[in-house]
Amino acid sequence: MEKTLIIPAADDFHVHLRQGDLLKNVVPLVISGGAARVMVMPNTTPPVYTSLDAADYKSELQKSAPQTEFLMTMYLKSTLTETEIKAAKNNGVLALKLYPKGVTTNSEEGVSGFEDLYPVFENMQEYGLVLSIHGELPYDTGQNICVMNAEEKFLPYLTKLHKDFPSLKIVLEHVSSKAAVDFIKNSGPEVAATITPHHLELTVDDWARNFHNYCKPVAKYPEDREALRQVVIEGNSKFFLGSDSAPHLKSKKDIAKPAAGIFTTPLLMVYLADTFDRLGCLDKLKDFSSTFGRTFYDLPENKKTIKLIKEEQVVPDEYNGIVPFRAGEILSFRIEVDV
Ligand code: NCD
Ligand code: ZN
Repeated sequence: MEKTLIIPAADDFHVHLRQGDLLKNVVPLVISGGAARVMVMPNTTPPVYTSLDAADYKSELQKSAPQTEFLMTMYLKSTLTETEIKAAKNNGVLALKLYPKGVTTNSEEGVSGFEDLYPVFENMQEYGLVLSIHGELPYDTGQNICVMNAEEKFLPYLTKLHKDFPSLKIVLEHVSSKAAVDFIKNSGPEVAATITPHHLELTVDDWARNFHNYCKPVAKYPEDREALRQVVIEGNSKFFLGSDSAPHLKSKKDIAKPAAGIFTTPLLMVYLADTFDRLGCLDKLKDFSSTFGRTFYDLPENKKTIKLIKEEQVVPDEYNGIVPFRAGEILSFRIEVDV
């Protein structure tokens, strides 16, 4: 029987859209992948540090895709003053992104501890800015860190942060472990998480033998993937879509030290329809991709709709030199976007 699903276009609450030629090639693909509204990460070179940087970046993105709505973020630094945080709020910046130093692409300017950041968190809580977190503990913390435990070992710090700032809205980005899933379930309503399409599919074996599947945080054990699958199957509203689509040119991936990041933007909703259908929870896709996230961020529902039709297609080998997730594989849906 033909399956067709008509739902609002997606909100993707975590995407990397880059700069220059990469930006021009990637940004028009947002709408073809089924997302109408995207939260853009600030780890550009140089990073998005001020609300002026965010406004400039937004207008550049808008030029490449006038029909897409871009939600802006800024790179969190301990030097951010109350005036800057207030200005960010007034200029429509939704979240500040915290990168622990050195854990992923362009995180060299990230933070080394939370102590210096307490005044910033205080102001964010007061002005209603969301704290978006890359939750991995860096190697230099003397806690036997490796890619497999870096997320779990970060959680005690998050527990303290949440306790000290109970009204600060926090999003733990791209959760990848059962420990993180349990942490989110057991925390208050101010704390939520994003889940990527690739963490619903991959485990450690997949990136150990194919570096196109290498991203930070890395995909973990089968029981971790199972925990992620279970929360989408049960339709838990604390978990919503943030693709963490992170394009890198093939020349930066097909090498001995590959860049971290998986590119899902061009077929975003097709990957998800394929996965949700296989998991028997296609009826949960709408809330995951267009209700839970916008409710957390207090945004209205998207007016645009997308149609997902059960019909096979092969994932292209590349898009302008960028290899997409599951290249060459067959997906069981195609998409029509109302633009
Ligand atoms: C992201 C990138 O390339 O910007 N990479 C990744 O593996 N996810 C950064 C990030 O979100 O960690
Ligand atoms: Zn990311």
